[in-house]
Amino acid sequence: MGPVSSDAVNRYLKQTRELFGDELFLEKKAVLSPTGPTINSDYPSDLVKFYEQIHECHNCALGNSRTQFVFGVGDPNASLVLVGEAPGEQEDLKGEPFVGRAGQLLDKILTAIDRSRQKDVYICNVLKCRPPNNRDPFADEVSECEPYLIHQINLIQPKLIVALGRVAGKTLLNVDKPLKSMRGILHDYHGTPLIVTYHPAALLRNPNWKPETWKDFKWIRSIIDA
Ligand code: URA
Repeated sequence: MGPVSSDAVNRYLKQTRELFGDELFLEKKAVLSPTGPTINSDYPSDLVKFYEQIHECHNCALGNSRTQFVFGVGDPNASLVLVGEAPGEQEDLKGEPFVGRAGQLLDKILTAIDRSRQKDVYICNVLKCRPPNNRDPFADEVSECEPYLIHQINLIQPKLIVALGRVAGKTLLNVDKPLKSMRGILHDYHGTPLIVTYHPAALLRNPNWKPETWKDFKWIRSIIDA
């Protein structure tokens, strides 16, 4: 469509006014359906009921190899949802995300922003079941499991999602980029702002990344405190 002259706009407004009175009617744009996974409209509107509905999931092969289904923990009304890639060995045994050494570091970071896994934070993973030997999630596993994450986020309605690490970031953003190029940007995940930062396990291996992580968490805090 080419440029529209101000005469044409005036004519349109005059006609609209004659037809509809003083209230201005504009054509409503179709809301684009979010690309990606289809959400099952039968999912319950409560996190506990949702856990009960899905915790015996066998939609992918990980349902056979897991010890426990790792749904997620935290405040159901959290402003902040943290998303890792998948449960590791400790998480698979305990049924709770981020309970190993990386999880302990994550708890310290949360304390530094005056939060905890019980207070204003919800923690989960893209996958609810541990991939063998902690390998990266396969695409079919993500496509089966991501609708669960999206429904959790819809129920919690956080102000912000933080993807922990490159694998979680690239999976949620559906891109294949290094962590560096996803950091420092306010992305969008199905209508909720999303930030990507370092995975706490990576910080254990590379403590020199901690100052940059602290910068990210000060930014995260400023968003959820606002
Ligand atoms: N790493 C993750 O990405 N998630 C966990 O729950 C534990 C370790």
